[in-house]
Amino acid sequence: MAKKLKVGVIGVGGIARAHFPGWMESPDAEMIAFADIDRAILEERGKQQDIKLLYDTGYDLIANKDIDIVDICTPNMFHAPLAIAAMQAGKHVICEKPLAPAPGEIRKMIAARNKSKKLLMTAQHFRFDGKSEAMKAMIDQGVLGNIYHARSWMLRRSGAPTKPTFIWKEKSGGGPCIDIGVHILDLTLWFMGHPKAVSVTGVTQDKLCKLKGQFSTWGGPIPKRWDVEEFAAAMVRFDTGATLVLEVSWLLHHKTDSEDMQMWLYGVDGGIHWPSNEILSTNYKAQQLINQQVLLAHTTEPHAKECMVFAKTVAGGGKSPVPPEESLDVITILDGLYKSAKAGKEVRL
Ligand SMILES: NC(=O)c1ccc[n+]([C@@H]2O[C@H](COP(=O)([O-])OP(=O)(O)OC[C@H]3O[C@@H](n4cnc5c(N)ncnc54)[C@H](O)[C@@H]3O)[C@@H](O)[C@H]2O)c1
Repeated sequence: MAKKLKVGVIGVGGIARAHFPGWMESPDAEMIAFADIDRAILEERGKQQDIKLLYDTGYDLIANKDIDIVDICTPNMFHAPLAIAAMQAGKHVICEKPLAPAPGEIRKMIAARNKSKKLLMTAQHFRFDGKSEAMKAMIDQGVLGNIYHARSWMLRRSGAPTKPTFIWKEKSGGGPCIDIGVHILDLTLWFMGHPKAVSVTGVTQDKLCKLKGQFSTWGGPIPKRWDVEEFAAAMVRFDTGATLVLEVSWLLHHKTDSEDMQMWLYGVDGGIHWPSNEILSTNYKAQQLINQQVLLAHTTEPHAKECMVFAKTVAGGGKSPVPPEESLDVITILDGLYKSAKAGKEVRL
């Protein structure tokens, strides 16, 4: 049996815990090291997962010559410097979303990837969900025909993550636009086949987060320091003539128990709704409307699956399961949204 790839995880506070099962179940990889700037969290996770190699900085972990794969789960603003250092040290990198919150940083990561010839993948776990994989396979068979419009949203009524990781701009680079906008926009562009965006009209709002007594059912009282938007919306035009309306929010008087994440794609031959996974089409000859249910591709937990797929790709060869070029498309649109909101008009990309 081939030697297992050795994985080091940087930033083991929150979402990293969803990656651990994937590394543990992977036949291709094993976790051997953790790094975190918070010593208490580092030691707690080390004990929980029986990991003995514990580093106080990501750069110390990267210096370990035995490590083949670096898994970056720090706040957004640290993704690019750590990923670039890891690739320069000859490691393959899987990095939490957003790959980086600004297009320029992602371009630098792509340049480092090109120079190192290592794999760089964005951890867009929704792509690895059984519903998404099944729907993508149907779309790739051409059930929609020419897709000319999309509506995508990820809206929470009282779902602001109140940690500095998300609400201090110096750590996050932005609010829900950057945090959850990347999820639904990445999935939408992937389903649409990555048409090139040519312009964006965007707005952002920070009204509810300022109200006295405001709280989040996802994180308690809203802290005094809050640097980012709470809501963003955009209309995007693509070079294919297709359009997209996008809405994201952490705080909104919207009817949902926790989170309302949906996507509608409309093509000439059919439409889809995700995550209910229905395909809507018409038999004009029989004068019938057809609703088709798409079955799950699998039931594996998607964070675990993305790690296993990455390890398999590193071990067996092949292109990155979520290439950074596709994440650059996502962040270019969201960066355009912010620029448009600031300018108060449409911006060309
Ligand atoms: N895919 C998803 O579903 C999902 C969900 C939540 C968060 N995320 C992403 O994961 C990342 C982390 O979010 P989180 O919720 O785990 O945050 P978190 O604040 O809970 O954990 C981040 C950890 O990184 C550590 N850290 C901070 N700066 C560091 C540095 N420079 N070097 C090493 N360690 C450092 C912190 O001490 C903390 O333990 C973010 O990029 C976020 O967007 C993804």
